[in-house]
Amino acid sequence: MKESIAALKKEFPMLGASFTGRRMVYLDSACTVLKLKCAADEQRRHMLELGGCGGKRSSHALAAAMEENFYAARSRVASFMGAESPEEIIFTSGVTDAANLLANSFPFTPDRNEVVLSPVEHNAVFLPFERLAAAGRIKLRVAPMDGFKTDMAGLGKLIGRRTALVCLTHASNIFGGSEDIAAAADLAHKAGACLFSDDAQYAATHGGSAAPHGADACAFSGHKLGAPYCTGALYVRRGLMAKLRPWRVGGGTMEDVSFSGGRYKVKYLGNYQGFEAGVQNASGAAALAVTLDRLEKCGFAAIRAHVSGLVDAALTGLAGVKGVKVLGRREDLLEGSLISIAPEKKNFSVPDFNLFLNQGLKGRFIAVRTGRHCADLACLASGYRETIRISFFAYNTAEDAAFFVEALKKYLSLI
Ligand SMILES: Cc1ncc(COP(=O)(O)O)c(C=O)c1O
Repeated sequence: MKESIAALKKEFPMLGASFTGRRMVYLDSACTVLKLKCAADEQRRHMLELGGCGGKRSSHALAAAMEENFYAARSRVASFMGAESPEEIIFTSGVTDAANLLANSFPFTPDRNEVVLSPVEHNAVFLPFERLAAAGRIKLRVAPMDGFKTDMAGLGKLIGRRTALVCLTHASNIFGGSEDIAAAADLAHKAGACLFSDDAQYAATHGGSAAPHGADACAFSGHKLGAPYCTGALYVRRGLMAKLRPWRVGGGTMEDVSFSGGRYKVKYLGNYQGFEAGVQNASGAAALAVTLDRLEKCGFAAIRAHVSGLVDAALTGLAGVKGVKVLGRREDLLEGSLISIAPEKKNFSVPDFNLFLNQGLKGRFIAVRTGRHCADLACLASGYRETIRISFFAYNTAEDAAFFVEALKKYLSLI
């Protein structure tokens, strides 16, 4: 029997914490989820009871225990992401790290050197490929928008025989909802290309990754699930992993080195081992595994239903508010975990409103995110350069959403 959302809520010590004398109403989980107590406990336990050198370097009993623990975390992440094997999991410090690694390791060829991006890619995905394009190593194409989602027909038109990789974020961090990974994977595969999906906004509120939907590679960040910062993973399908060229290299990535004909020849290790250079964040990986266990205890189906209910409640509250525009269609937004709102009333200043949320409410402040949300492609394509984003996780309540709506109405009445 699964535990209730109410029981899970008790696991977040920062919920309702006070800062500068005001109690926090946290509506910024798309940026980062408040941290789970069990994750902090596990990281501490791991550092104090297991903190030794990884088994790949040393071969004493502590090192073996460390390595066993690290591999167990890899297996846990593999099952969460729906990978066929733990060997398909590369530990990273998050999606930014994963996207940089994939971009710089990808086997582009002169005949296949085009990357097609959706218009809702986060800068974490856009910028690594933009850099390669600026250096003349690849050609970048960006699909158009259809309302506040990716225009899938438009995406399809850009994919051709020169396309090496298609990137489609699973759930947008600016316009919410979720994207059709299976359809994009189909389009990419029919052209002989691969599909990468960014699961940063999907993993916590849907559970799992884009791998079972046909993605060849996908990634998530642990801090967006309540695990420690600088944890996360990149899944790469076994066949593709074998073709990647290790990019971030160093200790632990190499099988052998020889010297002949005046140069060194380095043979890198296969699978994830060729990509995890240097001593790894083993305590973070252990805490990430515990985080996944803890959330599974409640179940991602229950988390999904709860978050969708909060989006629904917030949309209902916002429906009658004049002076702002909710971006996106209700049926799309219910598939996600966040809502972006654009000001329409003259004199509405987003920084001023943010100040009001932090300093203008009696005894409380509301944490939201304002600005471009590191989604510059989507801002350019949609024309919305500045939005107010409210985002939800398992610990939020309909009262949190209602409190925000009331604060918004109050601000509008003051300007
Ligand atoms: C959709 C999306 N992708 C990527 C990232 C980058 O994640 P990280 O900073 O954990 O690497 C974020 C973070 O906000 C995001 O929302």
